[in-house]
Amino acid sequence: MVTNTATGGLDRILTLEIARVTERAAVAASRLRGRGDEKEADQVAVDAMRQELNKLPIAGTVVIGEGERDEAPMLYIGEEVGTRNGPEVDIALDPLEGTTICAKNLPNSLAVIAVAEKGSLLYAPDVYMEKVAIGPGFPAGTVSLDATPTENVMAVAKAKGVRINDVTACILDRPRHARMIEEVRATGAAIRLIGDGDVAGVIHTTDPDETGIDIYMGIGGAPEGVLAAAALRCIGGQMQGRLQLNTEEKVIRARKMGIEDPMRVYTMEEMASGDVVFSATGVTDGNMLGGVRFARDAIVTHTIVMRSSSRTVREIKARHQDLGKFG
Ligand code: FBP
Repeated sequence: MVTNTATGGLDRILTLEIARVTERAAVAASRLRGRGDEKEADQVAVDAMRQELNKLPIAGTVVIGEGERDEAPMLYIGEEVGTRNGPEVDIALDPLEGTTICAKNLPNSLAVIAVAEKGSLLYAPDVYMEKVAIGPGFPAGTVSLDATPTENVMAVAKAKGVRINDVTACILDRPRHARMIEEVRATGAAIRLIGDGDVAGVIHTTDPDETGIDIYMGIGGAPEGVLAAAALRCIGGQMQGRLQLNTEEKVIRARKMGIEDPMRVYTMEEMASGDVVFSATGVTDGNMLGGVRFARDAIVTHTIVMRSSSRTVREIKARHQDLGKFG
């Protein structure tokens, strides 16, 4: 049974157990890569993740999931998951992050989950969030949502000891970012425009030598923001998020979830505090994780699992030879 350790953190066995959950969702979604059907790809990933999650010896509650109860039949916010025979934990998940990427078989779609001590994840409504993130090794406060994109890019260049032209910012390619993109280009910094998938975008800042990305900035989903913060808590880095509560209806929804100040800037630690374990499995090939491969006699998955309290980051390349378990 997975129980809390004497130190009050999550049991370390959970770190390995949750890899199975994202592996299973990733394999299911990968069978629909490039088929142009976002909904179906998402649905199979949700079904597969839920099945595997319900085998975990936890009393889990989904706090970031597929949506609110009336709009999502499965893995909705508030759904109880796990065998119920284990510690009470909060769960943030996205069985298929980057549904469009998967449907087009483009890079960086993932199956992701974060499991955290109860009450330690931000209960974010499904709205947009403004985000800025960098990886480990920078002085505290290097980037901030109160700074301009120019100031943030310059601060990263200065702290890294490189010319501004040698910094690359990752930004979602959206009309709402037109001014930000123009501003960053004017600094001389490079930009990696991504079509979707900002959980990967944030995680990529943690290994610029591998991914070529130094800073993530812009507005994406709030649920994805909490998932990315959970990942960064484990690897190290800095992140801030501000919910985009720009209508009365969103302010009310957020208040119902305990958010009193609609303008509040959340730090990474405020979005994901306590002990957190995180797992992501590549669905399509990406900058850090390979996508699922179907070999003659096995299915191969590539997963990154990590835990905040130990800062251990493991990469698991698994050869699944019992093909029956994937249906
Ligand atoms: P889905 O997996 O739900 O398709 O989300 C993909 C994504 O690109 C996220 O990574 C990002 O946070 C969000 O959508 C951005 O939202 P929008 O497409 O509305 O700009």
